[in-house]
Amino acid sequence: MRILSIETSCDETGVSVLEASGEAGSDFRCRVLGNALMSQTETHAPYGGVFPNLARREHEKNLIPLLSSALSQAELLEESGVRPLAAQAKILEILSREQQLQTPLLGFLSAHEAPKLDAIAVTFGPGLEPALWVGVNVARALATAWQLPLIPVHHMEGHLIASLVEWQGDSCTMRPLEYPLVALLVSGGHTELLASRSWMQYEKLGATRDDAAGEAFDKIARLLGLPYPGGPALSELARAARERGEELPFRLPRPMMGDGLDFSFAGLKTAIRRKLDEEGTLSQERVRLYARETEEAIVDVLVSKTLRAVGEIGASAVLLGGGVSANQHVRARLTDVLQDSGAELFVCPPELSTDNAIMIGLAGYFRALKSRSIAPEALRAVGRPVLESA
Ligand code: KG4
Ligand code: ZN
Repeated sequence: MRILSIETSCDETGVSVLEASGEAGSDFRCRVLGNALMSQTETHAPYGGVFPNLARREHEKNLIPLLSSALSQAELLEESGVRPLAAQAKILEILSREQQLQTPLLGFLSAHEAPKLDAIAVTFGPGLEPALWVGVNVARALATAWQLPLIPVHHMEGHLIASLVEWQGDSCTMRPLEYPLVALLVSGGHTELLASRSWMQYEKLGATRDDAAGEAFDKIARLLGLPYPGGPALSELARAARERGEELPFRLPRPMMGDGLDFSFAGLKTAIRRKLDEEGTLSQERVRLYARETEEAIVDVLVSKTLRAVGEIGASAVLLGGGVSANQHVRARLTDVLQDSGAELFVCPPELSTDNAIMIGLAGYFRALKSRSIAPEALRAVGRPVLESA
């Protein structure tokens, strides 16, 4: 199956084309035929965070060029000589909220043959709704024009499935899985612990009651005066402090560490804000020390809850996914503690930890195998959808 996938849930615009075959398990094979990703980090940096309407405008500007690039890398873009489009009226209606996209998308469609694809997958949520709608509406328009099945993908299932495959160059196979599994999904908007007792079956064990782990990294980084996006900047400083053997003379709180499987990170941010008020202007060294202690506090909580979940359900492996899984410290600590418990750690390469369309294509492929397509008219972007088992 050849599948086109689109991701626009936050501040990355992604399009990829995958060729996949086989069921989940040892006969699964997948190759990336085309992949185009554009980050909006520089656009949002001056504001210190992601602005939904600015994100939407950037997705509108970049999506068609990225689509064109991914399809041409996959050698699926064939010029046709401009001809009228049968579905023009329907496409205009689908893009009524993205009027800026109407002319470029119609131009693109009428100048190219329908590419040889079998399905289109798109992130429908969770994420920033104005941003999600851009991808959703373009996917609806393409599915209508090319008469292809449209597969809605839950962004966090994309992160989860990305941790299950092993890459060799641009091709991947699936790791052997033994259930039950625990998944720790940690991104800018989510912190969730799930149990999975069979393929694509999910059960929520715990979630954050306030800030997500990535959000905690970003907000605390901002308090420390670090540039957006704060997570990677903070963890870089934390690493430097660790290498120099520097640490704060006191510990920051590890909220709810001994308490159930839910998380809470807002208290950590408040504790740091109070400390910083007492400190006045921070030296570079002091910023490094706070960065290290922040990272260790967040990672301690993530690791201890994950370990407890592994014990409670008797998991044979932990799947680590979401942007925060790019963090080297959380990877190293989890690898360490899981060694004693006998559970394996599955995590994707750091470049696929943060948002991308490849993971959406992978999840979309497996949803397509289960015939989870939807009529283009029925698809909606949803800011906070539940992750449903397939
Ligand atoms: O999954 P993702 O790319 O976007 C969402 O779905 O939210 O996750 C982005 C989050 C941001 O909060 C970012 O600061 C965090 O992942 N992040 C990191 C690191 N790289 C990305 N946090 C800590 N350490 C990192 N190295
Ligand atoms: Zn994400």
